[in-house]
Amino acid sequence: MYEKGRLWFGKDGKNVPRLKKYLTEVKQGMIGNTILLNDDVGSTPSAKELLKSIFEENTFETPKPVPLIKRLIKLSSSANDIILDSFAGSGTTAHAVLKLNKEDGGNRKFILVEQEDYANTITAERVRRVIKKMSEPLIFFD
Ligand SMILES: C[S@@+](CC[C@H](N)C(=O)[O-])C[C@H]1O[C@@H](n2cnc3c(N)ncnc32)[C@H](O)[C@@H]1O
Repeated sequence: MYEKGRLWFGKDGKNVPRLKKYLTEVKQGMIGNTILLNDDVGSTPSAKELLKSIFEENTFETPKPVPLIKRLIKLSSSANDIILDSFAGSGTTAHAVLKLNKEDGGNRKFILVEQEDYANTITAERVRRVIKKMSEPLIFFD
C-alpha cells in the first residue's frame, strides 16, 4: 500500500499511517465503518450522572460511559477473557465487565491499575458498591 501511495501519515507526515480512501471508492453517505452514537453508548455527562448515583456526589471528572466500554469489550474480546485497564480512573471498565457478564452469562475477569490516591476510595470502592448492588435482587446501577 505504501508503494502504491495509498497510505497517509498526516499533515506533517508523523502520524500513524491510515489507508487513503477516495470519494469514488466510498459509497454515497457512508463515511466510517464504525459509528458510536451518544444514544447508544452514552457520553461523559451520562457517565457522571451514573457515578453520582453510586457515590451521591461528584467524585471524578472524566469517567467513560459504561455502555461505551461494554461495546468495546464486546468487540474486542471473548466471554472468558481477562480485561486489563491500566488507567482505571473511576473503575468504569470493571463496572462494564460485571454488567456484561450479568447480561450474557460470560465469565470475564478484570484487572484495574490506578496510580492516584483515589485507587481505593473511588476505583476499588466503585467496584465494591457495584458488586454489592448486583447481589441485591432487581436493583443495579444502570
Ligand atoms: C481519563 S482517566 C480514566 C477514566 C476511566 N476510563 C473512567 O471511566 O473513569 C485516566 C486515569 O489514568 C490514571 N493514570 C495515568 N497514568 C497512570 C499510570 N502510569 N498508571 C496507572 N494509572 C495511571 C490517572 O490517574 C487517571 O485516573
